[in-house]
Amino acid sequence: MKILAIETSCDDTGVAILDANEAGDFRVLSNIISSQIEIHKKYGGIFPAMAKREHQKNIVPTLIEALSQTGLIIEKKNAILSNDKKTGINEILEREPELYKKIIPFFKKYHLTAQAGKPDVDFIAVTNGPGLEPCLWVGVNLARVLSFFWDIPIIATNHIESHILVNYLSRKEIKFPAISLVVSGGHTQIILVKGIGDYKILGETRDDAAGECFDKAAKILGLEYPGGPIISKLAEKLVGCRTPHQLPRPMINTKDYDFSFSGLKTAILYHHQKQSKKIQKDKKYISDMCAEIQQAIVDVLLKKTIQATKDYNAKTIILGGGVSANHELKTQLLIKIKQELPNVEFLFPEIDHSTDNGLMTAITGYFHKKETTNWQDLKANANLRISK
Ligand code: KG4
Ligand code: ZN
Repeated sequence: MKILAIETSCDDTGVAILDANEAGDFRVLSNIISSQIEIHKKYGGIFPAMAKREHQKNIVPTLIEALSQTGLIIEKKNAILSNDKKTGINEILEREPELYKKIIPFFKKYHLTAQAGKPDVDFIAVTNGPGLEPCLWVGVNLARVLSFFWDIPIIATNHIESHILVNYLSRKEIKFPAISLVVSGGHTQIILVKGIGDYKILGETRDDAAGECFDKAAKILGLEYPGGPIISKLAEKLVGCRTPHQLPRPMINTKDYDFSFSGLKTAILYHHQKQSKKIQKDKKYISDMCAEIQQAIVDVLLKKTIQATKDYNAKTIILGGGVSANHELKTQLLIKIKQELPNVEFLFPEIDHSTDNGLMTAITGYFHKKETTNWQDLKANANLRISK
């Protein structure tokens, strides 16, 4: 069974093709990601309208690369598109003219290697939320057009669930109940996972997400976007050392599983503003601050994740989301688990699968293959929740 998956919830345009057999073994046929980081670096963050434009520009080339790499299409001379099909595509993409301009030449120029009028693909999985609404619509509309054109059913997938289920790449079985910490640029949630598709959000951030805090802190310190990788790199040599600066650990002692990172960001801003221009540019000051910021974020994430695991007698801790690329978060969580919860298994994605990609969407699609949707009914939902 082959799944073609599309992911455009934030600033990465991802298309993947996954093959799964009856026994549930996965074979990754392609996983193409077109990153917008260079564009957003210039502006110090993501602007949704700009991110949408980039998705519109990149999505069809990304699709072509994924399909070609898998041998599902070949480039040929112009094909003739029937007027019916053209009108249908035009209607679906009424509000997505940029995508229309790209998809028509695609259908004309690339031929399918299969004879059935559709590629050798059984399902189209697409992230329909949560995420940046304008961006989500690009992926959703592409999925709708492909589904209409090739008559392939769609599976709508939840982006947060995909950050959890991507861990099935390294493991066939996960022991439940599990506690999942999903930490990304847009979300910070502690989720009780009773089984695949059975989730309860135990707590989440009341304001900024952990990744957002890394990104905003980096901006204050004059570092480039995205903040997480650069802050962790500059903090590398200082790990385990006491830093001369003390930042708050918001909500670390509250009895819930919620977070708040906007106060930390404000504390970073005030601390920075109090320094002279010379100190603000000083390499030692910047790396000391990076180490303290990273540790403040890690401390809170760790405390609440360990607490939730104990409270719910979880058998597994599953880490996911862009911030799960953070080496210190993984290392310190691993040490804590060994010390306090030696029977609990710890799963985290490979670094390439921590940040957004199409493959994670394909895996979620696989597990929800019985829940298909028609292209007519599919909508993006920026605030989609993994549980009520
Ligand atoms: O999951 P993701 O790719 O996109 C969203 O769904 O938001 O996460 C992106 C976030 C950014 O905020 C970025 O700064 C953060 O992940 N990130 C990191 C690291 N690599 C990426 N945060 C901390 N340490 C890292 N190494
Ligand atoms: Zn994400």
